[in-house]
Amino acid sequence: MSLKVLILGANGFIGSALTESILAKTDWEVFGMDIADNKLDAVLGKPRFKFVEGDITINKEWIEYHVRKCDVIVPLVAIANPTQYVKNPLRVFELDFEANLAIVRLCAKYNKRIVFPSTSEVYGMCPDPVLDEEESNLVYGPIDKQRWIYANSKQLLDRVIFAYGVRDNLDYTLFRPFNWIGPRLDDIHEAKEGSSRVFTQFLANVFHGQPIRLVDGGRQRRSFTYIDDAIDCLIRIIENKDGCATRQIFNIGNPKNDVSVEELAKAVIGAFRDIPEYAHLADSATVETVESQTYFGKYYQDIQARVPAVHRAKAKLGWEPTTDFNTAIRKTLKYHVRRGDFMPKTD
Ligand code: UGA
Repeated sequence: MSLKVLILGANGFIGSALTESILAKTDWEVFGMDIADNKLDAVLGKPRFKFVEGDITINKEWIEYHVRKCDVIVPLVAIANPTQYVKNPLRVFELDFEANLAIVRLCAKYNKRIVFPSTSEVYGMCPDPVLDEEESNLVYGPIDKQRWIYANSKQLLDRVIFAYGVRDNLDYTLFRPFNWIGPRLDDIHEAKEGSSRVFTQFLANVFHGQPIRLVDGGRQRRSFTYIDDAIDCLIRIIENKDGCATRQIFNIGNPKNDVSVEELAKAVIGAFRDIPEYAHLADSATVETVESQTYFGKYYQDIQARVPAVHRAKAKLGWEPTTDFNTAIRKTLKYHVRRGDFMPKTD
C-alpha cells in the first residue's frame, strides 16, 4: 500500500534526509511543512512531494486537515541544540513540548500512527554502560541546570504518547537519535559563532581557521551515527511491516562509533588533510581546552558518555548501522566540498 506520510519540519536535518530517501526508495507520498525550504532543493517540485511553508504553531488548520488525510505523522519540529537549552529554555519548552503535544493530541483524536522523535538525551546522566530502551533509568541534574529542560520535555512527551498507547491503543513508535551526523546537520557558516552541535562546530572551526575548543578536555564520549544508517532505520519504522514497530521504542545509534570528543577533533582534522585543496587547513588547525561553564555558561551540565543498545532494532526491524565513524566524517566533508560550502561567502 502506498503510504501518505506527513513530515512536520521537513526542511530540518532529519526531515530533509528522510524526505529525499522516501521519494527515492518508496512509492509513498510526502506532505511536508516547514518555516523554510533551503535544504529541500533536491525534492521540491517532485510529484509525490507536496510542500507548504508554514509554522506548526500558526497553521493549525492545515495541520489538522493533513493529520486526518495522512497515514503516518512524523513531527520533527524541535530545537535540538544544547546552546539553546541553556539560552532559551522556555522557547525549547514551548516548541519542543507544547507545540508537539498539540500534534500528539491530534494523532490520538484521529487515531493516526505517530512516529515521534524522542532523544538519546532522555537517558541523561544514566550510568549504564549501554543504554537500554526498556531498562535504563532516566537521570537528570538539579533545576538550575537548565540544559535538562530539553530532555524533560521529550521524556514527558514519551510518557504521554505511551499512555495514549495503553489507554487508547494509539499506534506509535518512539525513536531516539544518538548524535546523528551528516550533511546539513547545522549551517557551517552559522557555526562560526560557536552555536552548533559538536560535529558541525569542529568542521566550521577548521574551515574558518578558529581553534577547536574541547570542553573539559574532550573526554566526553558519544556514539556518532551516520545519517544514511539512521534514515534506513526510520524508513523501516514508518513502513512498519506486520506491525513490527508499533508501540515500540528504538534507540537509533551506532555503538561501534563510541568515541571521545577529542578523538572526533582529531578525526575531523585528519579528514581535511585527506582532501588536497584543504590540507593546509588541517596543517594550521589548533586545539584548545575550555571549561564547560566558560563555554556554555552556568546552566549547563554535560553528559559524559552514552552508548545505545541496538538489539531491539536488530531483532524487530532487521536493522544494524554499517557506516564507521571516519567514513561518516569523510562523506559529510565531501558533500560540503562538492557544494562549494567551504568557499568564502560573498554576501
Ligand atoms: C545532543 C543534542 O542535545 C541533540 O542534538 C540531540 O538530542 C542529542 O545530543 C543527540 O544527537 O543524540 P550533545 O551530544 O551533548 O547533545 O551535543 P553536542 O553539542 O554535539 O556536544 C557533544 C559534546 O561535545 C559535549 O560533551 C560538548 O560539551 C562537547 N563540545 C561541544 C565540545 O567539546 N566543543 C564544542 O565546540 C562543542
